[in-house]
Amino acid sequence: MATWSAPGKVFLFGEHAVVYGRPGLAMAIQHRVSVTVRKKRSPGRVKSPYINECLGAMGVRATVYVRSQLPSSSGLGSSAAVTVATLAAINDEFGKGLTREEVAQKGYEIERKVQKGRASATDTYVSSFGGVVLIRGTEKKRLPPMNLPLVVGNSRVSHNTSLMVEKVGRERERHPGIVNPILDAIGAVTQEALLQLHDPRVLGMLMNTNHALLDALGVGHPALTRLVLAARAAGAFGAKITGAGGGGCMIALAPSRAKGSVAGAIRTCDAQAIMTTLDTEGARKEKDG
Ligand code: MEV
Repeated sequence: MATWSAPGKVFLFGEHAVVYGRPGLAMAIQHRVSVTVRKKRSPGRVKSPYINECLGAMGVRATVYVRSQLPSSSGLGSSAAVTVATLAAINDEFGKGLTREEVAQKGYEIERKVQKGRASATDTYVSSFGGVVLIRGTEKKRLPPMNLPLVVGNSRVSHNTSLMVEKVGRERERHPGIVNPILDAIGAVTQEALLQLHDPRVLGMLMNTNHALLDALGVGHPALTRLVLAARAAGAFGAKITGAGGGGCMIALAPSRAKGSVAGAIRTCDAQAIMTTLDTEGARKEKDG
């Protein structure tokens, strides 16, 4: 029996713009999915298509137990975390000898298959390696760890990442003269954030700008705007949509003294508040049981 866990992620800056080659910054969070894998002879029924694909891709039969601290389909990378933790646990239990890079790559291929073509290579990379990750085209670079306490607000409005990515793509084809400058501006916000990672006040202001640009791209939602405004009014340095938008989650960067009131303000809007921070470990082995 082997138990591995893998973290979820948030986009700090640059979602959607990364799809068009602009830089983006994503971060693993301390909320995780934990997966236990036990060898078994006969094939059993597995409900999750991600886990089914992991078993198939690794050529094994096993019983799989999942425990998750991440809300699913909310933009926090829960499917990538399930996939990475399952692959890592199978790798360990069956002695397959895959490296962390190979787990991340296989995880991406499995996500693409289950999601019928579109998946985020960022999600599986961040979940495998942890940390703050700069994305530029197909390159990914881990940055030195930093203290970034966040409050995540889950609007509980369901959304579909592929549909939101397609929506931005359609708008870009229809109005390239409007959409490309917005994507450039998002890229410029990420560049500036890279220089200001030590200053939460400036980062908060940049998050607010990034949020406005995501709204201008058409990926906002009234429920997310409500949470963003509530978080700012409760003392956050800044707040924005995280991930594909159209529902799902927002994040707020708040001073320690205001974290509780920001979480309270989010809950008052009937949303789930999750206080979290940077995870530097990525996929890790847990004690069995
Ligand atoms: C979704 O979490 C982030 C997007 O930029 C898509 C992607 O990067 O694959 C919208």
